[in-house]
Amino acid sequence: MTTNAQPRTQWLGRWGFILAATGSAVGLGNIWKFPYITGEFGGGAFVLVYLACILAVGVPVMMTEIALGRRGRGSPVDALRRVIAESGRGSAWSLLGWMAMLCGFLILSFYVVVAGWSFAYLWKMLSGGLAGSSVDEMAAIFGANNASPLNLGFWSTLVTVATMVIVGKGVQAGIEKSVSWMMPGMVLMLLLLIGYGVFSGGFPAAVDFLFSFDAGRLSSEGMLAALGHAFFTLSLASGAILTYGSYLPATTSIARTTLSVALADTVVALMAGLAIFPVIFANGMSPSSGPGLIFMSLPLAFQAIPMGTLFGILFFVMLSMAALTSSISMVEATVSWLCDNKGLSRRSASWGTGLVLWLVSTLAMLSFNVGADWTLYGKHFFDWLDYLTSRWMMPLGGLGMVMLAGFVLKSESFREELGLSPGWHALWLFMVRYVSPLGILMIFVDALGITRVEFGLHWPWLLAILVAVTLLGELVSPRLRRTLCS
Ligand code: PFF
Repeated sequence: MTTNAQPRTQWLGRWGFILAATGSAVGLGNIWKFPYITGEFGGGAFVLVYLACILAVGVPVMMTEIALGRRGRGSPVDALRRVIAESGRGSAWSLLGWMAMLCGFLILSFYVVVAGWSFAYLWKMLSGGLAGSSVDEMAAIFGANNASPLNLGFWSTLVTVATMVIVGKGVQAGIEKSVSWMMPGMVLMLLLLIGYGVFSGGFPAAVDFLFSFDAGRLSSEGMLAALGHAFFTLSLASGAILTYGSYLPATTSIARTTLSVALADTVVALMAGLAIFPVIFANGMSPSSGPGLIFMSLPLAFQAIPMGTLFGILFFVMLSMAALTSSISMVEATVSWLCDNKGLSRRSASWGTGLVLWLVSTLAMLSFNVGADWTLYGKHFFDWLDYLTSRWMMPLGGLGMVMLAGFVLKSESFREELGLSPGWHALWLFMVRYVSPLGILMIFVDALGITRVEFGLHWPWLLAILVAVTLLGELVSPRLRRTLCS
């Protein structure tokens, strides 16, 4: 049952939602960020914690978002308003929808800059601009690429325009059509790159690095990074998944779809590691070179091996496509809201959103050059956007949604929408009521700088806290529910 009287567009094909949501999830987070944070936080042990975070927090939150989107059949603002009204609850909760929509928009404002790097490097590879460069020259090229506002602005504007062209064409003709060839194309290119890695000589070292578990290398900082990254990589609490969920046909299983998307996202992140690290190791480079890993170390490594330029080009085409399929999902919430509430056509809504986005992203882009000194509490505008969205808005939005689902909304709504057997439903409810909130609270405790939660050392305590909170929560939940709903 939906609460919206107006018919809403739905994905055309059986794979429409899975491809679009996987396209949203798989992006710079998987190919740029995951490999370098894995490098920084110690390889296999980090990967294991990351997988646990995806399962314990990512999957339940994603199921909740899709259910909210499909139930409310609208942008995050409209969908939440309807679902909340259906349960007869206080409208303050619909602020969550506004925050999610804003969060997606703000992420895109800095995401287009990094996606612009990818397009710029693709061009450099194609035009031979990186050929024969030394380590120092690679760093200088990366610096020069950022130092010119015209250059950096050109590439981020290109990404903004490409995003808006696709979104402007609509859900089926724009988003669904583009992901239906970009996603398979991307996976194919990734497979070719892994094949190349197998012959590069560094493959065994890469497998060892990614999959050998050494508990001694687990750090609390790494665990928090894994938890935060689980949100970012699954595009949670940013309006993207919720809005895509609003186009999901009523008969599709939300649980199965969510598991497919989370699995595909994780597999692609690991595949990216298997494509990048062999090339890095084959050249005796360090896996922990940070954000410059794929823009400095990798192009350098590609140069040193036969057919490296060709595979380098392939790599940056793949990265650019991954970035685009994510960026289109970040504005869909805003565009959908504008169309539904302001009577705009898709095209006008997209270009209007694109214009504002361009202004904000230009400010973010200037952080790398003329605005390098414009800092507030030691952070540039670019860093502020990243910090506010990943450390605060995404976890806060996630927390709000699971609390909404776990304690506030009528449980029948979710029973109907999720359609799970009683056992699985109870497990989902336990996750959204206790496990996900506790995980998210740890991010806040850390972000507030109160204390670093040393859960690597104290996991029996954490388990005890979880049990205690669950018991307490179940005891007082009717009262808690009344308070939250008032
Ligand atoms: N999941 C994307 C990535 O890993 O690159 C980033 C992202 C997309 C975040 C869409 C938020 C969003 F709404």
